[in-house]
Amino acid sequence: VLILALASLGCRQQMAVQPRVDPLESSAFFADGRSARAPVPGTVARGHLRDDVHLYFGQVAQPRGAGRASDERAALGATVSERTTQSEPPYAAVLPFPATKSVLQRGQERYLIYCVVCHGPLGDGDGKVVERGYTKPPSFRTDRSRGYERRGKVMALRDVPVGYLFDVITNGFGAMPDYASEVPTEDRWAIIAYIRALQAVELPTPQRSNLSGGETGK
Ligand code: HEC
Repeated sequence: VLILALASLGCRQQMAVQPRVDPLESSAFFADGRSARAPVPGTVARGHLRDDVHLYFGQVAQPRGAGRASDERAALGATVSERTTQSEPPYAAVLPFPATKSVLQRGQERYLIYCVVCHGPLGDGDGKVVERGYTKPPSFRTDRSRGYERRGKVMALRDVPVGYLFDVITNGFGAMPDYASEVPTEDRWAIIAYIRALQAVELPTPQRSNLSGGETGK
């Protein structure tokens, strides 16, 4: 019995003092003196693979070879002037997930945190910052898209594809800063769902007539 007890004690001690290194501890074993190996170039952390082009880029996935996600990223990373002179990217026409009640509530909450200061509570471009002299944004409900105007297209912001709205929030546009670092991907889509809800509110006829036809530019 005593021998057995001693044997198990020995085992416990080996477990307790097994050779291991603390995070960032140095080591004489590797030539670079680090105990941990650097990740292989191109390593993607678990949960960070942005391979869903619809969700992360707001675009319709291209068939393999025609335009891989990395090309898409390059296109979206282009400067505003480059983007506006380029032909229109394959913007997604629908949200990447359903606009459920909780998505809309989240979108409203995020909109009232990040967008309302400039775009106003109904999206008419009359936020508090604008009252103090910031560039007045177009109304989501009654104005045309300035981005599409630069591409030479007359398009009401009510009619632009959701993927375009995602592009504007992610990369900014003109006087509007980008919100990629402040607003996580899913929240950007939730905000877009909420903007669509604002736009769905019936408009009186005079405002409605602003949207159709007419000349480009102001
Ligand atoms: C600091 C003020 C400010 C904030 C905050 C802001 N925007 Fe803007 N936004 C602008 C301005 C200014 C423009 C017009 C830019 C221009 O014409 O140069 C604009 C334009 C837009 C457009 C229209 C682009 C077009 O084609 O006409 C959309 C869509 C938009 N913003 C969405 C949003 C959303 C969604 C948020 C919140 C995540 C947001 N903005 C937050 C200032 C802001």
